[in-house]
Amino acid sequence: MTADRYPKGVLAGRTALVTGAASGIGAAIAEAYAAAGAQLCLADRAEDRLAPVVERCAGFGVRAVGVGADVSVEADVTRMFARATESLGFVDVLVNNAGILTECRVSEMSTSLFDEMIAVNLRSVFLCTRAALPTMIHHGFGRIINIASQLGQKGGQGMAHYSAAKAGIIGFTRAVAREVGGLGITANCIAPGPIETPLGGDLSQEWTETLRAGLPLRRFGQPEEVAPTAVLLASDPGGNLYTGQTLGPNSGDVMA
Ligand SMILES: NC(=O)c1ccc[n+]([C@@H]2O[C@H](COP(=O)([O-])OP(=O)(O)OC[C@H]3O[C@@H](n4cnc5c(N)ncnc54)[C@H](O)[C@@H]3O)[C@@H](O)[C@H]2O)c1
Repeated sequence: MTADRYPKGVLAGRTALVTGAASGIGAAIAEAYAAAGAQLCLADRAEDRLAPVVERCAGFGVRAVGVGADVSVEADVTRMFARATESLGFVDVLVNNAGILTECRVSEMSTSLFDEMIAVNLRSVFLCTRAALPTMIHHGFGRIINIASQLGQKGGQGMAHYSAAKAGIIGFTRAVAREVGGLGITANCIAPGPIETPLGGDLSQEWTETLRAGLPLRRFGQPEEVAPTAVLLASDPGGNLYTGQTLGPNSGDVMA
């Protein structure tokens, strides 16, 4: 990521909290935000992998702090926001990005696998949004950006639990957008298509090859090709009129 990819200062004065920032799309969003001038609180349950991302972000000359937190755990979310506020002040941009992916047919899926998916990928979005909103409402400004997936729109074979969680994020986001739109707060989703990150590492080759062949662009994306959409949604005036939307950097997999 080079700083000159973003207009210098497009996010100057913003403070963003990005979850799942140790890897993939979250790390790319963190770096893009740092390059655009935002202060950052970066959270991940893999605290050991967070430090290099924090360091790269700080290299852009912004304040960046890291916090180890499991976003499916309410007490961790409370601690994460306390740390962000103590270190950086008002969090005006929240990026709910942390997520997991597993593959299992519904007929063979255990209740615990389903519940874990909903807790990490959907409940976390509720917990973090609820924690962020009071101060956003107080300040009359906020940008909530939730990372869904194109599989929440079209469904994925062997991924009913993941598709349900991601579709849930889209519905949740639209409801929040209606609830707080009059208070200066926007809420939107980014629903990426297949992106080359460690997330899909355990998927079968058959699954990934079938998916690739069906993409109009015939290729998976890179995290750096998703991050600019998150910059847009956080920016003023570029992001001002988006709310309740689902933006799809997805190689054409879903055409909304
Ligand atoms: N890679 C893709 O093809 C793709 C496509 C669509 C949507 N997404 C979504 O993008 C988001 C980021 O995925 P990625 O591809 O960058 O994956 P990734 O595995 O590279 O990064 C996910 C990060 O989230 C963290 N994380 C997982 N569970 C957590 C928890 N409970 N608490 C805190 N941190 C947690 C992981 O430690 C990891 O650092 C996810 O929500 C994913 O569903 C990814």
